[in-house]
Amino acid sequence: MYSTVHVVGARPNFMKVTPVMDALRSLPDIKQTLVHTGQHYDENMSRVFFVQLGLQEPDVNLGVGSGSHAAQVANVMLRFEELVLARRPDLVLVYGDVNSTVAAALVCAKLGIKVAHVEAGLRSADRSMPEEINRLLTDRLADVLFTPSVDGNENLVREGIPAGRIHLVGNVMIDTLVRLLPKADELWEDLSRRLQIDRQSYVLVTLHRPSNVDDPQTLGRIVDTLVSLPGRLPIVFPVHPRTRARLAALERSGGADRIRFLDPLGYLEFLSLQRRSLMVITDSGGIQEETTFLGVPCITVRKNTERPVTVQVGTNHLVGDDMDLLRSTYDAIRSHGGKKGAVPILWDGKAGARIAAVIGDLAHAG
Ligand code: UD1
Repeated sequence: MYSTVHVVGARPNFMKVTPVMDALRSLPDIKQTLVHTGQHYDENMSRVFFVQLGLQEPDVNLGVGSGSHAAQVANVMLRFEELVLARRPDLVLVYGDVNSTVAAALVCAKLGIKVAHVEAGLRSADRSMPEEINRLLTDRLADVLFTPSVDGNENLVREGIPAGRIHLVGNVMIDTLVRLLPKADELWEDLSRRLQIDRQSYVLVTLHRPSNVDDPQTLGRIVDTLVSLPGRLPIVFPVHPRTRARLAALERSGGADRIRFLDPLGYLEFLSLQRRSLMVITDSGGIQEETTFLGVPCITVRKNTERPVTVQVGTNHLVGDDMDLLRSTYDAIRSHGGKKGAVPILWDGKAGARIAAVIGDLAHAG
Protein backbone atom coordinates (compact mmCIF):
# COMPACT_ATOMS: atom_id res chain seq x y z
CA MET A 1 0.00 0.00 0.00
CA TYR A 2 1.40 3.41 -1.01
CA SER A 3 0.38 5.97 1.56
CA THR A 4 -0.34 9.60 0.73
CA VAL A 5 -1.26 12.55 2.93
CA HIS A 6 -2.99 15.63 1.50
CA VAL A 7 -2.59 18.88 3.45
CA VAL A 8 -5.14 21.70 3.14
CA GLY A 9 -5.75 24.69 5.36
CA ALA A 10 -7.36 27.67 3.69
CA ARG A 11 -10.35 28.26 1.44
CA PRO A 12 -8.54 28.17 -1.93
CA ASN A 13 -7.04 24.76 -1.12
CA PHE A 14 -10.33 22.86 -0.94
CA MET A 15 -11.27 23.07 -4.63
CA LYS A 16 -7.73 21.99 -5.57
CA VAL A 17 -7.50 18.85 -3.43
CA THR A 18 -10.91 17.44 -4.39
CA PRO A 19 -10.15 16.42 -8.00
CA VAL A 20 -6.80 14.93 -7.00
CA MET A 21 -8.36 12.77 -4.27
CA ASP A 22 -11.18 11.74 -6.61
CA ALA A 23 -8.72 10.70 -9.33
CA LEU A 24 -6.44 8.81 -6.93
CA ARG A 25 -9.42 6.83 -5.64
CA SER A 26 -9.56 5.00 -8.97
CA LEU A 27 -6.02 3.62 -8.53
CA PRO A 28 -5.47 0.39 -6.60
CA ASP A 29 -3.35 0.25 -3.43
CA ILE A 30 -3.18 3.97 -2.72
CA LYS A 31 -4.12 5.01 0.81
CA GLN A 32 -5.18 8.64 1.22
CA THR A 33 -5.33 10.71 4.41
CA LEU A 34 -6.76 14.24 4.40
CA VAL A 35 -5.27 16.68 6.93
CA HIS A 36 -6.90 20.08 7.55
CA THR A 37 -4.53 22.42 9.37
CA GLY A 38 -7.44 24.57 10.62
CA GLN A 39 -5.96 27.79 9.18
CA HIS A 40 -9.50 28.63 8.08
CA TYR A 41 -12.18 27.49 10.50
CA ASP A 42 -15.38 29.54 9.99
CA GLU A 43 -18.37 27.63 8.64
CA ASN A 44 -18.41 29.81 5.51
CA MET A 45 -14.61 29.75 4.96
CA SER A 46 -14.23 26.00 5.32
CA ARG A 47 -17.12 23.63 6.13
CA VAL A 48 -19.47 24.80 3.37
CA PHE A 49 -16.78 23.92 0.81
CA PHE A 50 -16.47 20.36 2.07
CA VAL A 51 -20.22 19.93 1.73
CA GLN A 52 -20.59 21.57 -1.70
CA LEU A 53 -17.49 19.98 -3.25
CA GLY A 54 -18.34 16.53 -1.87
CA LEU A 55 -14.93 16.48 -0.19
CA GLN A 56 -14.59 13.87 2.55
CA GLU A 57 -14.36 14.99 6.18
CA PRO A 58 -10.72 15.61 7.15
CA ASP A 59 -9.19 12.55 8.83
CA VAL A 60 -7.27 14.92 11.09
CA ASN A 61 -7.77 18.60 11.96
CA LEU A 62 -4.70 20.27 13.43
CA GLY A 63 -6.78 23.22 14.69
CA VAL A 64 -4.11 25.89 14.31
CA GLY A 65 -6.50 28.83 13.69
CA SER A 66 -5.41 32.43 13.12
CA GLY A 67 -2.27 34.23 14.26
CA SER A 68 0.76 35.99 12.93
CA HIS A 69 2.48 34.35 9.97
CA ALA A 70 5.23 33.02 12.20
CA ALA A 71 2.76 31.64 14.73
CA GLN A 72 0.58 30.06 12.05
CA VAL A 73 3.50 28.40 10.23
CA ALA A 74 5.14 27.29 13.48
CA ASN A 75 1.93 25.78 14.84
CA VAL A 76 1.30 23.83 11.63
CA MET A 77 4.89 22.57 11.73
CA LEU A 78 4.74 21.42 15.35
CA ARG A 79 1.44 19.60 14.96
CA PHE A 80 2.07 18.21 11.49
CA GLU A 81 5.49 16.88 12.45
CA GLU A 82 3.89 14.63 15.09
CA LEU A 83 1.47 13.27 12.53
CA VAL A 84 4.19 12.60 9.96
CA LEU A 85 6.41 10.88 12.52
CA ALA A 86 3.53 8.65 13.58
CA ARG A 87 2.35 7.76 10.06
CA ARG A 88 5.49 7.97 7.92
CA PRO A 89 3.62 8.50 4.61
CA ASP A 90 5.29 7.75 1.27
CA LEU A 91 4.17 11.07 -0.23
CA VAL A 92 2.71 14.32 1.13
CA LEU A 93 0.78 16.54 -1.28
CA VAL A 94 0.57 20.27 -0.60
CA TYR A 95 -1.58 22.75 -2.51
CA GLY A 96 -1.28 26.36 -3.67
CA ASP A 97 0.59 29.06 -1.75
CA VAL A 98 -0.92 29.52 1.70
CA ASN A 99 0.94 29.37 5.01
CA SER A 100 -0.17 25.77 5.62
CA THR A 101 1.44 24.74 2.31
CA VAL A 102 4.96 25.92 3.11
CA ALA A 103 4.77 24.73 6.73
CA ALA A 104 3.89 21.17 5.75
CA ALA A 105 6.49 21.08 2.98
CA LEU A 106 9.23 22.19 5.38
CA VAL A 107 8.32 19.51 7.93
CA CYS A 108 8.53 16.81 5.27
CA ALA A 109 11.81 18.05 3.79
CA LYS A 110 13.43 17.87 7.25
CA LEU A 111 12.14 14.37 7.87
CA GLY A 112 13.08 13.04 4.46
CA ILE A 113 9.46 12.51 3.39
CA LYS A 114 8.71 13.07 -0.30
CA VAL A 115 6.62 16.19 -1.09
CA ALA A 116 4.53 16.94 -4.15
CA HIS A 117 3.42 20.52 -4.80
CA VAL A 118 0.19 20.99 -6.73
CA GLU A 119 0.11 24.42 -8.46
CA ALA A 120 3.90 24.77 -8.59
CA GLY A 121 5.94 27.33 -10.51
CA LEU A 122 3.68 30.40 -10.26
CA ARG A 123 5.60 33.62 -9.65
CA SER A 124 4.56 37.24 -9.20
CA ALA A 125 8.20 38.33 -8.64
CA ASP A 126 6.79 40.38 -5.76
CA ARG A 127 8.29 39.30 -2.45
CA SER A 128 6.13 41.70 -0.48
CA MET A 129 3.31 39.17 -0.96
CA PRO A 130 3.38 36.43 1.69
CA GLU A 131 2.20 33.95 -0.95
CA GLU A 132 5.28 34.61 -3.14
CA ILE A 133 7.57 33.61 -0.28
CA ASN A 134 5.45 30.50 0.27
CA ARG A 135 5.65 29.59 -3.45
CA LEU A 136 9.41 30.05 -3.71
CA LEU A 137 10.14 27.98 -0.61
CA THR A 138 7.63 25.23 -1.32
CA ASP A 139 8.94 24.71 -4.85
CA ARG A 140 12.52 24.64 -3.56
CA LEU A 141 11.59 21.91 -1.09
CA ALA A 142 9.32 19.80 -3.29
CA ASP A 143 10.40 16.55 -4.93
CA VAL A 144 7.55 16.50 -7.44
CA LEU A 145 6.15 19.72 -8.96
CA PHE A 146 2.80 19.83 -10.74
CA THR A 147 2.39 23.01 -12.81
CA PRO A 148 -0.87 24.50 -14.12
CA SER A 149 0.59 26.34 -17.13
CA VAL A 150 3.73 26.56 -19.25
CA ASP A 151 5.03 29.69 -17.48
CA GLY A 152 5.26 27.57 -14.32
CA ASN A 153 7.68 25.18 -16.02
CA GLU A 154 9.74 28.08 -17.37
CA ASN A 155 10.04 29.70 -13.92
CA LEU A 156 11.10 26.45 -12.26
CA VAL A 157 13.70 25.59 -14.89
CA ARG A 158 15.09 29.13 -14.64
CA GLU A 159 15.45 28.63 -10.88
CA GLY A 160 17.43 25.46 -11.44
CA ILE A 161 14.79 22.85 -10.55
CA PRO A 162 15.61 19.67 -12.51
CA ALA A 163 13.18 19.26 -15.41
CA GLY A 164 12.55 15.61 -14.48
CA ARG A 165 10.71 16.71 -11.33
CA ILE A 166 8.32 19.03 -13.15
CA HIS A 167 5.03 17.82 -14.62
CA LEU A 168 2.77 20.13 -16.62
CA VAL A 169 -0.68 18.82 -15.67
CA GLY A 170 -3.05 21.78 -16.07
CA ASN A 171 -5.27 23.53 -13.58
CA VAL A 172 -6.93 21.44 -10.86
CA MET A 173 -9.20 24.31 -9.84
CA ILE A 174 -10.71 24.25 -13.29
CA ASP A 175 -11.44 20.50 -12.82
CA THR A 176 -13.72 21.42 -9.93
CA LEU A 177 -15.27 24.31 -11.82
CA VAL A 178 -16.09 22.14 -14.85
CA ARG A 179 -17.64 19.46 -12.66
CA LEU A 180 -19.78 21.81 -10.58
CA LEU A 181 -20.87 24.43 -13.11
CA PRO A 182 -24.22 22.71 -13.75
CA LYS A 183 -24.96 22.65 -10.01
CA ALA A 184 -23.96 26.29 -9.68
CA ASP A 185 -26.35 27.17 -12.51
CA GLU A 186 -29.25 25.69 -10.56
CA LEU A 187 -28.77 28.38 -7.89
CA TRP A 188 -28.99 31.36 -10.23
CA GLU A 189 -32.77 31.98 -10.14
CA ASP A 190 -32.79 32.13 -6.38
CA LEU A 191 -29.67 34.31 -6.17
CA SER A 192 -30.93 36.77 -8.75
CA ARG A 193 -34.20 37.13 -6.85
CA ARG A 194 -32.56 37.42 -3.46
CA LEU A 195 -29.94 39.98 -4.54
CA GLN A 196 -32.23 41.70 -7.07
CA ILE A 197 -29.78 41.41 -9.92
CA ASP A 198 -30.13 40.49 -13.58
CA ARG A 199 -27.60 38.61 -15.67
CA GLN A 200 -24.74 40.75 -16.99
CA SER A 201 -26.11 43.76 -15.17
CA TYR A 202 -24.03 43.70 -12.01
CA VAL A 203 -20.39 43.80 -10.96
CA LEU A 204 -18.98 41.16 -8.62
CA VAL A 205 -16.24 42.30 -6.25
CA THR A 206 -13.86 40.55 -3.84
CA LEU A 207 -10.91 42.09 -1.98
CA HIS A 208 -8.78 40.48 0.70
CA ARG A 209 -5.06 41.09 -0.09
CA PRO A 210 -3.32 42.76 2.85
CA SER A 211 -1.93 45.41 0.44
CA ASN A 212 -5.50 46.47 -0.49
CA VAL A 213 -7.47 46.01 2.71
CA ASP A 214 -5.18 46.40 5.73
CA ASP A 215 -4.68 50.16 5.34
CA PRO A 216 -8.07 51.92 5.83
CA GLN A 217 -7.09 54.75 3.47
CA THR A 218 -6.24 52.37 0.63
CA LEU A 219 -9.42 50.36 1.15
CA GLY A 220 -11.44 53.58 1.38
CA ARG A 221 -10.03 54.79 -1.94
CA ILE A 222 -11.00 51.53 -3.65
CA VAL A 223 -14.52 51.53 -2.18
CA ASP A 224 -15.01 55.21 -3.15
CA THR A 225 -13.97 54.33 -6.70
CA LEU A 226 -16.41 51.41 -6.80
CA VAL A 227 -19.26 53.58 -5.50
CA SER A 228 -18.57 56.24 -8.11
CA LEU A 229 -18.36 53.92 -11.15
CA PRO A 230 -20.79 55.19 -13.76
CA GLY A 231 -23.92 53.34 -14.83
CA ARG A 232 -25.55 52.61 -11.47
CA LEU A 233 -24.95 48.89 -11.86
CA PRO A 234 -25.36 47.05 -8.57
CA ILE A 235 -22.14 45.85 -7.00
CA VAL A 236 -22.17 42.50 -5.19
CA PHE A 237 -19.35 42.21 -2.66
CA PRO A 238 -18.98 39.08 -0.51
CA VAL A 239 -16.62 40.15 2.26
CA HIS A 240 -13.66 38.08 3.48
CA PRO A 241 -13.14 38.10 7.28
CA ARG A 242 -9.85 40.04 6.91
CA THR A 243 -11.75 42.83 5.11
CA ARG A 244 -14.87 42.80 7.30
CA ALA A 245 -13.67 44.84 10.28
CA ARG A 246 -12.06 47.53 8.11
CA LEU A 247 -15.17 47.85 5.97
CA ALA A 248 -17.51 48.28 8.91
CA ALA A 249 -16.12 51.76 9.49
CA LEU A 250 -16.51 52.69 5.80
CA GLU A 251 -20.08 51.40 5.63
CA ARG A 252 -21.04 53.71 8.43
CA SER A 253 -19.53 56.64 6.58
CA GLY A 254 -22.35 56.26 4.02
CA GLY A 255 -22.29 56.45 0.22
CA ALA A 256 -21.79 52.72 -0.09
CA ASP A 257 -25.46 51.69 -0.32
CA ARG A 258 -24.99 50.81 -3.98
CA ILE A 259 -22.80 47.93 -2.83
CA ARG A 260 -24.43 44.76 -1.51
CA PHE A 261 -22.03 43.62 1.19
CA LEU A 262 -22.53 39.90 1.89
CA ASP A 263 -20.92 37.31 4.12
CA PRO A 264 -18.44 35.05 2.30
CA LEU A 265 -20.40 32.83 -0.09
CA GLY A 266 -20.27 29.10 -0.73
CA TYR A 267 -18.39 27.79 -3.76
CA LEU A 268 -21.52 27.18 -5.85
CA GLU A 269 -23.16 30.51 -5.11
CA PHE A 270 -19.98 32.40 -5.98
CA LEU A 271 -19.46 30.45 -9.18
CA SER A 272 -23.03 31.12 -10.25
CA LEU A 273 -22.52 34.85 -9.64
CA GLN A 274 -19.20 34.94 -11.49
CA ARG A 275 -20.63 33.31 -14.57
CA ARG A 276 -23.41 35.84 -15.02
CA SER A 277 -21.66 39.01 -13.90
CA LEU A 278 -20.84 41.76 -16.39
CA MET A 279 -17.36 41.79 -14.93
CA VAL A 280 -15.47 40.84 -11.77
CA ILE A 281 -13.21 43.21 -9.83
CA THR A 282 -10.89 41.30 -7.52
CA ASP A 283 -7.45 40.80 -6.00
CA SER A 284 -7.78 37.02 -5.68
CA GLY A 285 -5.49 34.63 -7.53
CA GLY A 286 -8.02 31.88 -8.17
CA ILE A 287 -10.73 34.22 -9.42
CA GLN A 288 -8.40 35.52 -12.15
CA GLU A 289 -8.28 31.93 -13.41
CA GLU A 290 -11.97 31.16 -13.02
CA THR A 291 -13.04 34.30 -14.93
CA THR A 292 -10.56 33.42 -17.71
CA PHE A 293 -12.11 29.98 -18.04
CA LEU A 294 -15.64 31.42 -17.97
CA GLY A 295 -14.79 34.17 -20.48
CA VAL A 296 -15.92 36.86 -18.02
CA PRO A 297 -13.89 40.11 -17.99
CA CYS A 298 -11.81 40.53 -14.84
CA ILE A 299 -10.17 43.65 -13.41
CA THR A 300 -7.42 42.75 -10.95
CA VAL A 301 -6.53 45.38 -8.36
CA ARG A 302 -2.88 44.35 -8.16
CA LYS A 303 0.34 45.54 -9.78
CA ASN A 304 1.41 42.04 -10.76
CA THR A 305 0.08 38.54 -11.07
CA GLU A 306 1.59 35.10 -10.57
CA ARG A 307 -0.90 33.97 -13.21
CA PRO A 308 0.27 35.88 -16.32
CA VAL A 309 -1.54 33.47 -18.62
CA THR A 310 -4.83 35.05 -17.48
CA VAL A 311 -3.63 38.38 -18.90
CA GLN A 312 -1.83 37.06 -22.00
CA VAL A 313 -4.42 34.47 -23.01
CA GLY A 314 -7.47 35.11 -20.85
CA THR A 315 -9.78 37.96 -19.86
CA ASN A 316 -7.76 39.55 -17.07
CA HIS A 317 -6.75 43.26 -16.87
CA LEU A 318 -4.21 44.36 -14.24
CA VAL A 319 -4.80 47.89 -12.94
CA GLY A 320 -2.58 47.98 -9.85
CA ASP A 321 -3.49 50.77 -7.44
CA ASP A 322 -4.34 53.17 -10.27
CA MET A 323 -8.00 54.06 -9.69
CA ASP A 324 -8.20 56.07 -12.94
CA LEU A 325 -7.10 52.99 -14.83
CA LEU A 326 -9.68 50.92 -12.96
CA ARG A 327 -12.38 53.38 -14.00
CA SER A 328 -11.30 53.51 -17.66
CA THR A 329 -11.00 49.72 -17.85
CA TYR A 330 -14.49 49.43 -16.36
CA ASP A 331 -15.80 51.88 -18.98
CA ALA A 332 -14.09 49.99 -21.81
CA ILE A 333 -15.58 46.68 -20.67
CA ARG A 334 -19.04 48.25 -20.35
CA SER A 335 -18.92 49.65 -23.85
CA HIS A 336 -17.03 46.93 -25.77
CA GLY A 337 -17.26 43.85 -23.54
CA GLY A 338 -13.52 43.67 -22.74
CA LYS A 339 -11.04 41.08 -23.99
CA LYS A 340 -12.54 38.01 -25.58
CA GLY A 341 -9.83 35.72 -24.26
CA ALA A 342 -9.27 31.98 -24.69
CA VAL A 343 -8.87 29.05 -22.32
CA PRO A 344 -5.20 28.16 -21.61
CA ILE A 345 -4.01 24.72 -22.64
CA LEU A 346 -4.74 21.83 -20.28
CA TRP A 347 -7.41 23.77 -18.39
CA ASP A 348 -9.76 21.01 -19.44
CA GLY A 349 -11.10 19.35 -16.31
CA LYS A 350 -8.56 16.51 -16.40
CA ALA A 351 -5.62 17.84 -14.36
CA GLY A 352 -6.48 15.61 -11.37
CA ALA A 353 -6.30 12.51 -13.58
CA ARG A 354 -2.87 13.57 -14.90
CA ILE A 355 -1.60 14.04 -11.36
CA ALA A 356 -2.94 10.63 -10.35
CA ALA A 357 -1.15 9.02 -13.29
CA VAL A 358 2.20 10.46 -12.15
CA ILE A 359 1.57 9.35 -8.56
CA GLY A 360 0.58 5.91 -9.81
CA ASP A 361 3.99 5.65 -11.50
CA LEU A 362 5.75 6.81 -8.31
CA ALA A 363 3.89 4.20 -6.28
CA HIS A 364 4.75 1.53 -8.82
CA ALA A 365 8.42 2.49 -8.78
CA GLY A 366 8.27 2.00 -4.97
C1 UD1 B 1 -5.21 33.21 3.33
C2 UD1 B 1 -4.00 32.99 2.43
C3 UD1 B 1 -4.27 33.66 1.09
C4 UD1 B 1 -5.57 33.20 0.47
C5 UD1 B 1 -6.69 33.46 1.48
C6 UD1 B 1 -8.03 33.01 0.95
C7 UD1 B 1 -1.80 32.90 3.51
C8 UD1 B 1 -0.53 33.63 3.69
N1 UD1 B 1 -2.80 33.61 2.97
O1 UD1 B 1 -5.28 34.59 3.62
O2 UD1 B 1 -3.23 33.32 0.19
O3 UD1 B 1 -5.83 33.94 -0.71
O4 UD1 B 1 -6.37 32.74 2.68
O5 UD1 B 1 -9.04 33.24 1.83
O6 UD1 B 1 -1.88 31.73 3.84
N2 UD1 B 1 -10.37 34.56 9.71
C9 UD1 B 1 -11.64 34.29 10.20
N3 UD1 B 1 -12.15 33.05 9.93
C10 UD1 B 1 -11.48 32.11 9.22
C11 UD1 B 1 -10.21 32.43 8.75
C12 UD1 B 1 -9.67 33.65 8.99
O7 UD1 B 1 -12.27 35.11 10.84
O8 UD1 B 1 -12.04 31.02 9.01
C13 UD1 B 1 -9.81 35.90 9.97
C14 UD1 B 1 -8.85 35.95 11.11
O9 UD1 B 1 -9.11 37.09 11.85
C15 UD1 B 1 -7.50 36.07 10.44
C16 UD1 B 1 -7.83 36.76 9.12
O10 UD1 B 1 -9.16 36.34 8.81
O11 UD1 B 1 -6.59 36.79 11.20
C17 UD1 B 1 -6.90 36.34 8.02
O12 UD1 B 1 -6.82 34.91 7.92
P1 UD1 B 1 -5.44 34.19 7.47
O13 UD1 B 1 -5.62 32.74 7.37
O14 UD1 B 1 -4.34 34.69 8.33
O15 UD1 B 1 -5.14 34.78 6.05
P2 UD1 B 1 -6.13 35.15 4.83
O16 UD1 B 1 -6.14 36.63 4.73
O17 UD1 B 1 -7.44 34.44 4.92
